[in-house]
Amino acid sequence: MAAETLFDVVVIGAGPGGYTFAIRAAQLGLRVACVDAWRNDKGGPAPGGTCTNIGCIPSKALLHSSEHFENATRHFGDHGIRIESVAIDVEKMLARKATVVRQNNEGILYLFKKNKITFFHGQARFEARSADGYRIAVAGTDTMLSAPQVVIATGSVPRPLPGVAFDEKRVLSNDGALAIPQVPRRLGVIGAGVVGLELGSVWRRLGAEVTMLEALPAFLPTADEQIAREALKQFTRQGLKIQLGVDIEGVDVAGEAIKVRYLDSNKAPQALECDKLIVSIGRLPTTEGLNGQAIGLKLDERGFIEVDASCQTAVAGVWAIGDVVRGPMLAHKAEEEAVAVAETIAGQHGHVDLDTIPWVIYTAPEIAWVGRTEQQLKASGQAYRAGFFPFAANGRARAMGDTAGLVKVLADAQTDRVLGVHAVGPMASELIAEAVLAMAFNASSEDIARVVHAHPTLSEVTREAALAVEGRALNI
Ligand code: NAI
Repeated sequence: MAAETLFDVVVIGAGPGGYTFAIRAAQLGLRVACVDAWRNDKGGPAPGGTCTNIGCIPSKALLHSSEHFENATRHFGDHGIRIESVAIDVEKMLARKATVVRQNNEGILYLFKKNKITFFHGQARFEARSADGYRIAVAGTDTMLSAPQVVIATGSVPRPLPGVAFDEKRVLSNDGALAIPQVPRRLGVIGAGVVGLELGSVWRRLGAEVTMLEALPAFLPTADEQIAREALKQFTRQGLKIQLGVDIEGVDVAGEAIKVRYLDSNKAPQALECDKLIVSIGRLPTTEGLNGQAIGLKLDERGFIEVDASCQTAVAGVWAIGDVVRGPMLAHKAEEEAVAVAETIAGQHGHVDLDTIPWVIYTAPEIAWVGRTEQQLKASGQAYRAGFFPFAANGRARAMGDTAGLVKVLADAQTDRVLGVHAVGPMASELIAEAVLAMAFNASSEDIARVVHAHPTLSEVTREAALAVEGRALNI
């Protein structure tokens, strides 16, 4: 008979949603259990979810390593730095990435201990409703958890191409794409979205010939069109081959080379031969093994757990956050929902503003935005004014030798309230924070324009773009 342990709340999953929830709920005085099944290569716990283990964190490690390599091979000469020979040691690069991941896993376990969160390593499964709320079994242990409140933060898994399973050796998801042992000569990528662009960039910088096949006729259609155009120009210049409007007909993996058969945008049959193939065509919510039906949990037609605006399911006391529910599959969105749900459970007023969630693609140049795009404003008939400013006219960007891209500010034509800010360029991921803050405070473009920005910084580009809304940029 399993020992039954009672908590105020059990959170299932220790990704950015789950671990952030656990910490905030513990800070608010709740007795919290967190259950997560992720294993490291020794079979031990590896909390942090996709983000920490095979997503945001390791990809940033490889993006940094590969950017150093590209700078050394292509750009150091511009700075007068001569290097006779540069070589890449992929094994060491991957080992460094693994260390970064481990440090983050350990950091989360430390935070659990510090906040007196009880962590269980194993797969959680709803058993039944109980007098105290819900009973949850943890596979591989004889533990039965019981709590009146449960938060599901089980994340997502990569979507496979129909009929083409991920083997993580030749057909790779984000997982295998972060662990290719040698630079492939020819890398194919199906899906020119966030994963494809980031990981395609990593291996291109290291020497792979990268071809990306994208189904949609437009490049990055969720980004502002002007920004997407500029990004496509830069990526193409760097050597990424991006084909839009393709129709994948099949993938043959039996031979020496992987062969992707597809119709190009003119409907002409084509074939791409490659040594490794990344399939990055989106992700699916993870609910397998949860046994949600035991408590009456409902999924929508796409498999997401149905929740209301405050992340509550129709089952009293059961909440769901992050990739497993509607909205963008972004770590920081999950974290915001986590804090809001913890505060709501604790009797406070949790709130997430889905309109001010920033998007970032960590390529070089980086792409980042918040709020509405120009095409969305046009489609909705909203009157707006736009201002943009290129990094090429910014002293700091010139000093860095990193002048590609621009920042664009969109503001309401009547009130001047900022409706969207879009950037492609150096450090766009960091620059966007100012825009998010401005939008969260309902700032006008004039507010940004009147705030002192240190000189010389890249942030002046945002200020100049805000000034440009009024047609009074100073340095162009
Ligand atoms: P995605 O939704 O960003 O991109 C998938 C792309 O594949 C789309 O452009 C889509 O049109 C294309 N596609 C779909 N089916 C296709 C087909 N049959 N043939 C060719 N192209 C096809 O998804 P991705 O890149 O897989 O990333 C998954 C999730 O992870 C995203 O929601 C993303 O937000 C998140 N993520 C976020 C990151 C960040 O914030 N920097 C980094 C990596 C992932």
